[in-house]
Amino acid sequence: MIQYSCFHGGIYSVNPSSVRVDFSSNINPLGISKKVLKALRKNLPTLSSIYPDNEHTILKKKIIDYLGGSLSQDSVNIGNGATELIYNFVRTFVRNQVLIPSPTFCEYELASRKIGAKIKHAPLRNWKLDIDKILEKSTNSDAIFLCNPNNPTGLFSYELIEKLIEKLDSSIKIFIDESFIEFVDENKHPRTFIEKINEFQNIVVLRSLTKSFGLAGLRLGYCVSHPSTAKKILQNKISWNVNGLAQMAGVTALEDFSHIRRARKIIKTERDFMYTNINNRMNSFSAIESDVNYYLIRLHHGNSTQVRDLLLEKNGILVRDCSDFKGMNHRYIRVAVRTHSENLDLLDSLESIDT
Ligand SMILES: Cc1ncc(COP(=O)(O)O)c(C=O)c1O
Repeated sequence: MIQYSCFHGGIYSVNPSSVRVDFSSNINPLGISKKVLKALRKNLPTLSSIYPDNEHTILKKKIIDYLGGSLSQDSVNIGNGATELIYNFVRTFVRNQVLIPSPTFCEYELASRKIGAKIKHAPLRNWKLDIDKILEKSTNSDAIFLCNPNNPTGLFSYELIEKLIEKLDSSIKIFIDESFIEFVDENKHPRTFIEKINEFQNIVVLRSLTKSFGLAGLRLGYCVSHPSTAKKILQNKISWNVNGLAQMAGVTALEDFSHIRRARKIIKTERDFMYTNINNRMNSFSAIESDVNYYLIRLHHGNSTQVRDLLLEKNGILVRDCSDFKGMNHRYIRVAVRTHSENLDLLDSLESIDT
């Protein structure tokens, strides 16, 4: 089997002690909320020594409230990070082939390769979904992965995905990863495909609390689908997959949406600030406009791996080298939007290697 790997995972993708600021992971710039930290400290002694709720009862209820209250409990699956649910989805529904519009998040491919599936890529066109190409290549696929907002390119058109769902053969499972949807600018009116799970039983929508609520180390994600689809995914869950502290942190986090609202404000202001400064002040870099909590920087010359290594070596700044994204090249790095002082740090570091 062809080995495929991708170079992600934040500070542990390199020597962790070399990283001062991590711009390679797209996590809430405010990190974990104070309320969640307080709850974790209070519950640590008890929750550390008892088995967690294998049914995730309280967390499931909280997720349903968070999503508007109308979903049934058996439409939700909870994972040890969103990533676990990608693997469970693949184990449940993929036998022969998957279709992946690329570039995108690499775990869809890694999970599918693990079970020996054939991978087909449908290249984006000008970083938009190429509906005709996807439909043409979808024959014989068990599943298609749509990441929206897409990592690393940003938001796709809702209407285009809607059109695609209507046109795809209903035997193809459609996995829609909305891990970053909470960070989309409010004026873009991001719409979720969770609304469609009862109309289309072949849709599974993924969310991650590790991004939105800064719980990357605790690991927490969920997916929502029609109950009959969710029931099948559940069969691949291992017992006690989500630890008690993560479940409790999730419950507390979901009660505090203001944490996301505050982060969104920072993201919008800071992204505009970075965009203006990079594009006006630098010769070697252009920031590409984005609607979410990360953006691409195009290198006018040089190589993204060298730029990543240089920023790390000289300044302890870690950025995501995009050269291992299928369909990208050595011309792009991806950076998270962080706090103002951290962003100033990144600007200085970029300026120090600008030519
Ligand atoms: C699009 C996308 N989905 C899912 C994940 C994984 O999320 P989690 O940390 O919850 O496993 C990532 C992580 O980078 C991602 O970029």
